[in-house]
Amino acid sequence: MVSVLLTTNPKPNSGFKYGFEFKEQALGQPASDQAVVKIQAAAFNHRDIWILKGQYPAIIPGSVPGSDGVGIVTSETASFKQGQRVLINPGSGWDEDERAPEQDFKILGLLPCIGTFTDSVVVDTKELLPCPEHLSTAEAAALPLAGLTAYRALFTKAKVRAGEHVLITGIGGGVALFALQFAVAAGAHVYVTSSNPDKIEKAIQLGAKGGVNYKDENCISELKKLLNGNLLSAIIDGAGGPLYEQYPRVMRTGGIIANYGQTVRDPAVHFTALAFIKNIELRGTTMGSRAEFKKMVAFVDAHKIKPIVSQVWQGLTEESVDEAVRTMANGEQFGKLVIQIGDIDSPHTPKL
Ligand SMILES: NC(=O)c1ccc[n+]([C@@H]2O[C@H](COP(=O)([O-])OP(=O)(O)OC[C@H]3O[C@@H](n4cnc5c(N)ncnc54)[C@H](OP(=O)(O)O)[C@@H]3O)[C@@H](O)[C@H]2O)c1
Repeated sequence: MVSVLLTTNPKPNSGFKYGFEFKEQALGQPASDQAVVKIQAAAFNHRDIWILKGQYPAIIPGSVPGSDGVGIVTSETASFKQGQRVLINPGSGWDEDERAPEQDFKILGLLPCIGTFTDSVVVDTKELLPCPEHLSTAEAAALPLAGLTAYRALFTKAKVRAGEHVLITGIGGGVALFALQFAVAAGAHVYVTSSNPDKIEKAIQLGAKGGVNYKDENCISELKKLLNGNLLSAIIDGAGGPLYEQYPRVMRTGGIIANYGQTVRDPAVHFTALAFIKNIELRGTTMGSRAEFKKMVAFVDAHKIKPIVSQVWQGLTEESVDEAVRTMANGEQFGKLVIQIGDIDSPHTPKL
């Protein structure tokens, strides 16, 4: 079977420290508590770009990248039928503790965890869940890592409830869009930031009340006007950076900032006197536990949420992977970038 492998030979002029190569690889034998999953589609995360740039911890050349995947079980297992469509939990070593992983936390896409940019993977059956029927193949591939991160940031960490006002930053991002969809489904009033007015408009179509451009130096004053006397209970942020100094101005006492990333070039954050005077909490968050993954997929199923897919490429080829990497590195997307890898006949295989 063909896999993408991380190599120390970056593409010329890419500016990356690492590159991807395509190689034939043998599939390992599953143990009795594992399943072989034939990957139908995989999705990109910004993590893949950080890895190519060499700006991610514990990078191991030879790893098969890819943290998101949907596929079909093709081996005999006690818990899943052959032909069943499943989602793969992108993390392992984290059962249910709300605070942090109980064990050494590992993520698909860096060794020792084989990622999803390949034809088939061997996965512990405890990390698999039946895929909700309403999701297309591309939507299903888009869900796992970003959906899990958004769910934990929003509900476990920021405690967002119906009727509250929430800001979600950088709405073009994969995690941010899930946070928007989940918060709207939970009955919160959602505001967004983006560098692109068209993305703010699309977010409004998805249920946001309004948005501001984070590149505009008056953006927090503009947000204050949009809030019309209301205050934010929560900010869900994957960027970091100088706006943290101003966020307390538009937050209620006891408000929570859940930070899951530092996309900004200079991500340094100022935690001001106003922040502690208002009892504001800054909470870091990373992905989530298996229990949260299960709750997130159940939430998506119950609310029939359809992940926003920006673009789908057909086939795991050098061309499709290069294009997806370029699109994500340039921030051109609105939603997830998906590669359809293969398909097999199954009653649970909807069209893309
Ligand atoms: N902790 C975790 O578990 C976890 C999980 C997933 C991702 N992350 C991290 O979270 C970040 C986003 O990941 P992703 O996969 O969702 O990325 P993505 O799909 O590539 O989205 C990145 C988005 O960041 C936004 N952005 C860029 N500069 C910004 C700024 N100054 N202020 C606010 N937003 C800004 C852009 O939004 P606009 O296009 O709207 O301008 C862009 O679309 C990355 O840093 C990633 O490593 C962490």
